[in-house]
Amino acid sequence: MPRTQEIPTTSPIGRSTPRVDGPLKVSGRAQYTSDFNLVGQLYAVPVEATIANGRVVKLDTAAAEKMPGVRAILHRGNIGRIFRSTLGPGLAGITDERRPPFEDDVVRYYGQYVALAVADTFENAKAAADAVPVSYEKREPNVDNELEADDEPPVVMTQYGPVKRVQSERGDPEGAFASAPVKLDQTYVTPAETHNPIELHATTAIWEGSTLTLYEASQGVFNLQGVLAQMFGLPRENVRVITKFLGSGFGNKLWPWTHCPLAAAAARQLGKPVKLVISRKMAFQTVGHRPRTQQRVRLGATADGRLVALLHDSVNHKAILDPYNENCGESTAFHYSVPNLRVAFGRASRNVGPPTPMRGPGAVPGLYATESAMNELADQLKIDPVRFRVINEPKIDEGLGIPFSSRHYLECLGLGAEKFGWSKRTPAIGSMKRDGLTLGWGMAGCAWLAARFPAEARVDLRDDGTARVACGTQDIGTGTYTILAQLTSQKTGVPLEKVDVALGDTSLPAGPLSGGSMVTGSVVPAVFQAADNAIAVLLSMATTTPGSPFENRTPDELAFEGGRVFVKADGSAGGVPFADLLRRANLRLVTASGKSEATFGNPDPKFSTHSFGCHFVEITWQPEIARLRVGRVVTVIDAGRIVNPLAGRNQIEGAVVMGIGMALLEHTIYDPQNGAPINSNLADYVVAVNADVPPIEVHFLDFPDYEINAIGARGIGEIGLAGFAAAVTDAVHHATGVRVRELPVKIEALLA
Ligand code: MOS
Repeated sequence: MPRTQEIPTTSPIGRSTPRVDGPLKVSGRAQYTSDFNLVGQLYAVPVEATIANGRVVKLDTAAAEKMPGVRAILHRGNIGRIFRSTLGPGLAGITDERRPPFEDDVVRYYGQYVALAVADTFENAKAAADAVPVSYEKREPNVDNELEADDEPPVVMTQYGPVKRVQSERGDPEGAFASAPVKLDQTYVTPAETHNPIELHATTAIWEGSTLTLYEASQGVFNLQGVLAQMFGLPRENVRVITKFLGSGFGNKLWPWTHCPLAAAAARQLGKPVKLVISRKMAFQTVGHRPRTQQRVRLGATADGRLVALLHDSVNHKAILDPYNENCGESTAFHYSVPNLRVAFGRASRNVGPPTPMRGPGAVPGLYATESAMNELADQLKIDPVRFRVINEPKIDEGLGIPFSSRHYLECLGLGAEKFGWSKRTPAIGSMKRDGLTLGWGMAGCAWLAARFPAEARVDLRDDGTARVACGTQDIGTGTYTILAQLTSQKTGVPLEKVDVALGDTSLPAGPLSGGSMVTGSVVPAVFQAADNAIAVLLSMATTTPGSPFENRTPDELAFEGGRVFVKADGSAGGVPFADLLRRANLRLVTASGKSEATFGNPDPKFSTHSFGCHFVEITWQPEIARLRVGRVVTVIDAGRIVNPLAGRNQIEGAVVMGIGMALLEHTIYDPQNGAPINSNLADYVVAVNADVPPIEVHFLDFPDYEINAIGARGIGEIGLAGFAAAVTDAVHHATGVRVRELPVKIEALLA
């Protein structure tokens, strides 16, 4: 059973803590990117291509240039130089759209920006953008839903560098599958899905001489700084990126998009700050989406339910120029024990905007396919799906051949089954009823990588008894401000409300991307080291300052606990608050930094580090009126120590809500005529809303994973979405007898 916490519950770590930035948000004082307004700023609105394949023949800017308030209509001929950027070592220079805007006159996807109207007000800029007639040489767009992999070599370029298309292989998968006593061979499809954070992407660009400041809605200010410095040919330190608050992103704000260099180029040319906020429609076209995937899964097992073969072949659509790999096999190679396995991927080029990571990239569509296949095979074997998973629990990560740092998947399954009441499930189709409704019960497992990005942080202890922590990461809305405050409070003894947190700025110590659910795990060692170093400075100062109560001591003789310095030999009962020591020494503050290395991307890891979990879902089905609802959810997550259970539960609940959308609603539809994502608004692209959300029960196990950091905390942002759709489709099958293998589940599929 879950271990008890080793840090006392009076500690700020592990305590349910409301957001420290909550009052700023609810009072409207939190400044999101588009809330920054500068004196004399201009507004830019892009002109969107209305074809998805072809060439711009003529842009007629004459009329628009004469419209009220218009300062410029910028296009390929007059915007000035915007350079390309390249991938750097480590995680540097990433972008999912390498071609700078306006680099050529070719249109490769619908909505690609072809010009930019700049005016004194947003309304004037919009009117001017709408008044630029563009003539095209049109070719037929390819947005075909049927995905056959492009002919590509065994090693291909991806957004993060070259990788092998066969990602993992062991034993004799084809042979073992061919001779398996029981087998399944099915193809699962997930549609293109579009991130819909409420906050739209925005940039305000300001030039002062050869320095560029960007207010940008970014999940990764340092990566954006590096890419934009390259695009404008500047030394990196000449670019500053600021993102104080994010109205989420789900991945589509991880990497730079073309609106950002456009705003910067316009500001350069016009000598004024330029603000560009994209529209919701543009958000479906130019800032990424989760690509459509088509995944063939072959599973072979013995009659008593032991897996003998697993083949997972996925294809995702990609844009014409960029090499996006969805990585559907992210967790396939280690999730279950199976001696013969192959995981491979391919891509199919389409006239769509570049895809980008969306919450749980790879694992989310991947686990939908593999967990669905597990459920179908369990059904064939007449083995309970929970038991089927227990039978195939691996002892080690069989993909890498190394132990797991901490894996408690079986405890997740056990606790989930117990809390849900799974033992009452009767397996026959449509056999469970309540209040005139047919019930369907389904389940699935999930996993998500856990690792650390490099991180730096700085901690100040100040003479008024407050502390400050600074780290150039971002708070995407998940609670990073609060986590940084909790970590600093834990180490310094300064109460939470007296800890100032600074983040979202490249002028701060380099912090991690808000991606991969890795921020919390990554910042722990850097913040702890910074705090330890600041305390060391304090102790040294206390022993060297004339008149200090510790003047004749050595730092070794002193200790720091709960914000007080005391002589170890005298015990912690007395002691002097650090603020007193600072005031006596006429110091406003002591300050120090800390730094920790990445574990992510380690080519030779000793342990396989992942979070695990499972979902149990009840759906209700009314065949008379074709009404399908998610009725109840129990989710159990094994993510190491949970730093803030309140924020953590909120993350998993949010992921489950998104999972309901993924399973039943979300679907970006491309018009085959012109290649446009035609449901590019929040009325036609349907996401789960309050009325779709049933009671959600979230349970966390508490097994700290000390391979990740000193408090054993892994991440929890994304895992809650992984596997969820497979649990829903399993429940749909249980109620209706229909196996839906293409998301989202449509009522039509159930009416056969
Ligand atoms: Mo997440 S897709 O790494 O923002």
